[in-house]
This record gives sequence, C-alpha cells and structure tokens, in this order.
Amino acid sequence: MIVEPKVRGFICTTAHKEGCRENVKQQIEYVKSKPKMNSGKRVLVIGASAGYGLASRITAAFSGGAKTLGVIFDKPASGKKTASAGWYNTAAFEEFARAEGLYAKTVNGDAFSETVKEQVIELIREDLGTVDTVIYSLAAPRRTMPDGEVVSSVLKTTGEPYTNKTIDLASRTVVPVTIEPATPEEIVGTVKVMGGEDWKDWIYALSDSGVLAENAVTVAYSYIGPELTHPMYYNGSIGAAKKHLYETAKDMTEEMSDIGLSAYVSMNKALVTQASSAIPVVPLYTAILYRVMKEMNLHEGCIEQIYRLFSEKLYGETPVTDGECLLRVDDWELREDVQKAVSEAWEKITTENLDSLSDVDGYWEDFYRMFGFGIESVDYAKDIETEVGIPSIIIEE
Ligand code: NAI
Repeated sequence: MIVEPKVRGFICTTAHKEGCRENVKQQIEYVKSKPKMNSGKRVLVIGASAGYGLASRITAAFSGGAKTLGVIFDKPASGKKTASAGWYNTAAFEEFARAEGLYAKTVNGDAFSETVKEQVIELIREDLGTVDTVIYSLAAPRRTMPDGEVVSSVLKTTGEPYTNKTIDLASRTVVPVTIEPATPEEIVGTVKVMGGEDWKDWIYALSDSGVLAENAVTVAYSYIGPELTHPMYYNGSIGAAKKHLYETAKDMTEEMSDIGLSAYVSMNKALVTQASSAIPVVPLYTAILYRVMKEMNLHEGCIEQIYRLFSEKLYGETPVTDGECLLRVDDWELREDVQKAVSEAWEKITTENLDSLSDVDGYWEDFYRMFGFGIESVDYAKDIETEVGIPSIIIEE
C-alpha cells in the first residue's frame, strides 16, 4: 500500500511504517553519538511509544544499556488502516534493541487498568526480578476508573474566560480565541486523568508485589512554561493536574523512604507531540519558541531533552533538583533572553508576518515526523507492507 498522511484536526489518521522506523533509528543514532551513561538497568516506561516516553526508552536502552519494559496503548494495522505511529515506533525499537542483544518487552493496553498493572508485574517477576527506574509519561484524554466510570481531562483555563491569539495551523492564520474556564468537575476530572493518582497506584502496586528495587527512582513529566502560557497551562486545568503530580512526588518519596524511593517531576520543554498540539494558544507559542531557540542554537527535540535530563540531572553523581523533587530541562526555554525574544514576537505576530516571526514550517515538520512522514531518506512512493508485529507484545485481555 502507498501510505499518505491524512490530517484531521490535531491528528494524522495514518502512519508510515518505514518513516517511523527511520525516526526511531535517528533517535538511537543520536544517543549513540553521545557518551554512554550509567542509567537505571531495569527500566519500566509507562507511555513508551511516542514523544518523551519513547525518547526515555531509547536513551535508557541505547545509552545506559538498560533492559526496558514499555507500556503502550496502540493499534496494529488492520485491513486498509495503518497501525498507529506508536505501534510502528515500538516495533522498530524492539527490532533495534534485539539486534544489539538488549532485552525489550512491551505490554499494549490501558495503563490505568488493573489488568495491565498485573501483566507488567508478572513480566517483571518472570524476566527481571525488579525494576530500578519507572518513567511515567502518559498523556491521555480520559481514564477508565476501576468501577467502569470514564473520567475526562480538559484543556481549559480556570477562573475567568481567557482571550488571546492562537494559530489555526491548517490555514496558517493567527486568530483570536476565547477559552471558557473549566467547571470544578472538569478540573477534578483532569486531575484524576493527568495528576499523580495513577502514577502512585503504579508505584504502590510494584512495591507491594515486591518488584520495585530498593533505592528505585521514578520520574513523571510536566511543564510550567512562561507567564504567557500560564492561563492555558500552569493556571489552567492541566496545570492543576501537574501540581497534583508534584505533590504526589513529594508524598511518595516521604512515604516510601523505608525502601529509599526517589520520586521526581521533570519540567520539560514545550515540543510538538500528539498531546501538545491540542492545547489552544500553546501551538503558536511553540512555533515562535522554535524559531527563537533555533536561531540561538538552543533548540532540542524529545531525544535531546531526555538525554540531557538523564545524563546531567538524573543519573549524575547526585540528582540535580531545584529544591525538592523538581528536575529542570526547561531551563533553556525559560532563559531570560529566549523569553524576551518570544514575548516581543508574540506582541507583533499576525497572519501576515507569521513566517518571519515563527517557525510554522518547523512545527509542521515535527508534526508530520511524529507519524513517519517528511523524512528525507524514506521513499514515500513505494508500495509498502503496512503490517508489522511486535515480537514480545502482550495485549491486555
Ligand atoms: P505523547 O502523546 O507523544 O505520548 C503519550 C504516550 O502515552 C504514548 O506512548 C501513548 O501511547 C501513551 N498512552 C496514552 N494513553 C495511554 C493509556 N491509557 N495507556 C497506556 N499508554 C497510554 O505525549 P508527550 O507529549 O510525550 O507527553 C508525555 C508527558 O510529557 C505528559 O505528561 C506531558 O504532559 C509531558 N510534557 C509534554 C510536553 C510537550 O510539549 N509535549 C512538555 C512537557 C511535558
């Protein structure tokens, strides 16, 4: 089949197998071009098939030599439908890992469910004994609770309605947008989905089953951003969830001090991923940020961010935190000179000067890349087999 991108709103409904493989290969080559690191050795990544989670799995395996276990929520190809990008990414990751003799297994299912937690625990027991690192990198729109109730997360402001500019990516226009505040119930829902509750459930389930190593490390990913995005992010419904994540990290470290657990939240940079494209206002900010950081030679993608996080902040002599449990790789994004340039562009930006003040092309490039498109070395005119198996896959029953 010849596979072309089909973009609907914030997602692309097709993915290119060869392009995704190439994407994973290039990320592996990046970490292999850098000094090896002494990361965890038996690493569980929850949300391992895309974005920051995939970059974490690649870094742990190919720079730290870790055995990795990934939890993903993806779809294989079926009939005329391609697999999801995360499925192809994971198939490629396992192929490259095995070629180097690195253990890699994957559970495909809803990470919020008890079943998936039990399957993962069983796998750790059989194959690894314990895990010493748990990366929590879920970005999910909803969560099914144990009693079957489905809770949704929303990307809204809080308090008063908020009006600012945003970008309509399809028409490349700068348009005004007003975001209504989330209701108290919506904020509670967002905290349930994207806050720390499920992270803590995972850590306790692993520990209670005896498969969490002593002195283990766990990291969840978060974002603060500059004041410009605070009404939509830090002070929005998602920010409430992220604050809960932070409180959870502190609680877990304290509660589990007997086994020496260290729980951290890493503040990462704003990047184009499937999760971030859906937040109003943020994509325009990201497009300006890309331009500014590329011009200053400071731009990083997921893999560069995670390599820096692991090598410089997490697995150095002692973790580099700012006070309690925060790790910062958003330091370059939040530099004064970067934010000054972003704010100046933000004030002036309109549809007419969009291309000179922002990097919309770079935004789209990253967007298509996530689904395996727009990669130079891939022949997109070629008829390809869309199906590919993930050798180790365990599907949630
Ligand atoms: P992403 O959309 O690229 O990846 C999310 C991963 O979660 C995928 O592997 C997906 O399969 C998996 N997933 C989603 N629902 C699942 C479920 N129910 N069960 C199992 N797996 C599931 O997202 P991204 O951007 O890498 O986000 C990961 C974390 O990083 C999030 O907490 C996000 O808030 C945070 N972050 C993202 C930033 C950005 O700009 N993209 C910036 C800073 C933090």
